[in-house]
Amino acid sequence: MGSAAERWAELQSGRGVPPEILAQAPASPWGHDPADFTAPDVPEDTPSRAAGLTLLGASGTVTDVGCGGGDAAFALVGPMTHATGVDTQQDMLDLFEAGADVRGVPARTVLGPWPDVAGQVGTADVVVSHHVLHNVVDLPPFLAALTAAAVRGVVVEMLSEHPMAWLDPLWARFHDLHRPEPATVDDAVAVLREQGVEPEVTRWERERRAPHSPVWVTRRLCLPPEREPEVAAALDRIPPRPRTAATLVWRP
Ligand SMILES: C[S@@+](CC[C@H](N)C(=O)[O-])C[C@H]1O[C@@H](n2cnc3c(N)ncnc32)[C@H](O)[C@@H]1O
Repeated sequence: MGSAAERWAELQSGRGVPPEILAQAPASPWGHDPADFTAPDVPEDTPSRAAGLTLLGASGTVTDVGCGGGDAAFALVGPMTHATGVDTQQDMLDLFEAGADVRGVPARTVLGPWPDVAGQVGTADVVVSHHVLHNVVDLPPFLAALTAAAVRGVVVEMLSEHPMAWLDPLWARFHDLHRPEPATVDDAVAVLREQGVEPEVTRWERERRAPHSPVWVTRRLCLPPEREPEVAAALDRIPPRPRTAATLVWRP
């Protein structure tokens, strides 16, 4: 493993929840709620969408890795002739299938972790993977499989730093847990370079999203619901969630 890949793995491992905190959590702090990931009817005009449309040209197929509700793939409706959604959560794949139906896009889904299921997925003209890298510890095989699955190119979208890093002051406040620095876009780009890939990188500001509710943050912090008022008050005193995102594009 290259040194950039080792650094990525170390920073990502430092984001885990220590077992003693997890043991007293009243509910699992993990998992994404599909309700938060429904793709909008009218896609946002972002650099990731523009890059996907350029790669697709007049027409082509798309694989969406870590698809959630299909925000990334369904932004390419029009030239996209077929969409494959890949996710570890069946409820997300159900949402993806419903979104494809509504839009009249031929689609299929594959359940399981990327890159383990890459062989089942095969290739597509364009591979998109939005807001998944910060979930991954062992990044080289994940990225290499994205490259291998794409005929024309790959579009990755990610936040400038780990999406939960804005809550680090609350881990310190409620658990006296002092987290290491978060992995960033530059760290991901360094791992790609170790694979001989030089991506085009565009940095931009996302539309403001609703901050996660105190209920959600309380569960994330492994605290019981009765601590919600304290969490709400503490949330008011930390800097808002950063909105800086990056689009990484490369060709196989
Ligand atoms: C933050 S959500 C992003 C969803 C969607 N791409 C979007 O931008 O709205 C991350 C998604 O990736 C999925 N995921 C995380 N790691 C994965 C992996 N190794 N393979 C496949 N899916 C994964 C999660 O289940 C979740 O649906």
